[in-house]
Parts: sequence; C-alpha cells; structure tokens
Amino acid sequence: MIYDFNKSKQRNIEVLTGIRPTGDLTIANYLGAVAPIIKIQSQGINPVVFVADLHAITDREPANVRQYIYEVVADYIALGVDPQKAIIYLQSDIAGEVTTLATFLARHISVAELLRVPTLKDKLKKNARPETANTLLLLYPVLMAADILINKAKKVPVGEDQLAHIEVTRLLARRFNKKYGEIFPIPQALQIKSLRILSLKGEGKMSKTNPGGAIFLTDSMATVAKKIKAAETAFEGVINKRLKSHILIAKELAKNRAERNEIDDIIKAHKSGKPVMGKFKQLLIQIVQNFLKDFQEKRAEITKNPSYIHSILEKGAKVARENANQTLDEVKNALKFI
Ligand code: TYM
Repeated sequence: MIYDFNKSKQRNIEVLTGIRPTGDLTIANYLGAVAPIIKIQSQGINPVVFVADLHAITDREPANVRQYIYEVVADYIALGVDPQKAIIYLQSDIAGEVTTLATFLARHISVAELLRVPTLKDKLKKNARPETANTLLLLYPVLMAADILINKAKKVPVGEDQLAHIEVTRLLARRFNKKYGEIFPIPQALQIKSLRILSLKGEGKMSKTNPGGAIFLTDSMATVAKKIKAAETAFEGVINKRLKSHILIAKELAKNRAERNEIDDIIKAHKSGKPVMGKFKQLLIQIVQNFLKDFQEKRAEITKNPSYIHSILEKGAKVARENANQTLDEVKNALKFI
C-alpha cells in the first residue's frame, strides 16, 4: 500500500525497526532486522524503519556517525524497503521527543535492573568496565524502549542480541500502563527464526567487530569467495551450530526453490557422512554473490543521488514528529505534566 505522507493522524504502526549508522552492514543485520520488514511490506503493511544515530554515539564519536546516515538509508532502500510504502526517518530528527519519553520511562526501572540486562552484563564482563563505560550504555535499552513506544509499534524485528532490550521495553510499557492507564501497546519481537547468525569463523555472532568472519553488504565478490572458503564448517555427518547458521544464510538468501532444494540435497548427503562441504561452500558463495551483486547495483544508483535520500528523510521526519508528538501529548496528559 502506498503511504499517504500528507495525511496527519495516520499512526497505527504495525512494525518498526532501527539500525545504528556505524559502518557497513552485514548480512546478519539484513537477516535479523530488514528481511522481516520486507516480508511484512509485501503483505501490504507500511513499515517504519529508522537510523539510530543517537544509539550509535554510545561508543562512537558523534562526528564519525554522520557519514553513515545516508548510507544506512541507501542500504534500507537497496535491500527492498520501499520509500513510497515505508516511513524512513532519522532518530535524531525527533531527538527532543524521544529523549523526553526516555526520561519519563527511566523512572520506571531501577539502576540495579538495568545493570542486570544481559547485553550490558556481557559487555561489562568482556570489554567494558563500569569505571570507564559511559552512562549511555546503561540507558541504551531505555532509549530503545522510547523509540518503540513513541511509535506505539506492535512488532519489532531484531536479531537475538536485541531480545533483552525488547523485554525491557515490554516491562516499561506494562509498568507505565499499570500506573497511568493503557497508553502503550505491549510490543513483540519479530524474528524469521531464532536469529543469531554466527561468525563464519572464530567465536561468537557475525559482527562488524570481527570483520574476517562477517560478510559485509559492500564486500567485493572476490572477498566473499575468500571469506566463505575460509569458513569453518563441520565434520562429515555432524550438524553443529555454525553449520546451522551457514545453512540459514544460504536458505534465506537463495533466490528460488531450486537453490533451496540443492541446499537440502547437499545437507542430506553431509548427514549421511559424505564429504560435501566443499560443494556446499561453492553453492553458498554463488548464493551470497548473487544477492550482493543485486544489492550493490541498486545501492550504487541510490547513492548517486543524495538529494533523493535527503527528501526521503525529510518526509519521514515529518510523519515521525507528528506521531511522536501525539504519543508524547498522551503521555504528558496521563502524567499530568503539562
Ligand atoms: P544494530 O545496528 O547494532 O543492529 C541492527 C540489527 O541487526 C541485528 N543483528 C543480527 N541479527 C542476527 N544475527 C547477528 N549476528 C546480528 N548482528 C546484528 C540486530 O539484532 C539488530 O536488529 N539496538 C539496535 C538499534 C535500535 C533499534 C531500536 C532496533 C535502536 N532502537 C528500536 C529496534 C527498535 C541495534 O542493535 O542496531
């Protein structure tokens, strides 16, 4: 459905997601957050997607974040988000609204509870220390809750790493509603499958911070082939977590049923003990390269035209601001804080 950007008070937001502008996206970002949006869009629902630049400054210098904003918009569109059907906005274009709501929400969660959020606990165990980590890290889930609740979004496609933040959002919405009346719908995480795309090799999930194990949407065809050839798989007959993740990538990016059947046949042979991982990698290379070729061509066209991207964000900001202010008015009324 084409979205009517001029109609005000049009605000039943079914699905929303955000991506931080922190450099090139990986196929895991696509599969975790964008693919479900495209699917929903094809069902006639108008999605909302935004560029989470305020979240990006948690661990990045604000000046370095600017350069990636237009790139994320171009990525969204080249991946299939249709600017005529979706609202695409920049989080900081409604910075006042969203941080005001975050302030109201933050009253409903304790410091101890925030310190127990698994993502933060994990970071503090691995690479951050309470003495040096800035407070935005603590507030990250509250700001994320504000993004979701200010839009009254019902479904939020995210990868597994963000599920804990959706739980915080649900908790805040419930607590707020209980005290001040039913303002917020309780949002749900939306995933294609339980989605944790693993690094191609080494430990952990596929992530920008481990580039050797990640396929970036901007990788050259040669780089993709090299990375997949070097990927760790599994011994004949064994299905481990990593191979499952590779299979998921192949299946989700495959362009037709014939390719998906080919994957099934290879995995069947693998399960019965045949040495077919080389063949599987060849097929995976072909599938990923086809997906990226198509994406990169579209993206190159879009980035040629920054004024087009600017106009999309301008249109999006207008709708996002209207929606945000309506919610904020309701919240302030409920709080008797006007
Ligand atoms: P960001 O940019 O870090 O990640 C964007 C999306 O990619 C998903 N993702 C993955 N999914 C599967 N497997 C992986 N290995 C993998 N790595 C990343 C993330 O889960 C995410 O969905 N906090 C958000 C940005 C945000 C947001 C929001 C999202 C801010 N406010 C409100 C939804 C609603 C984030 O992690 O961005």
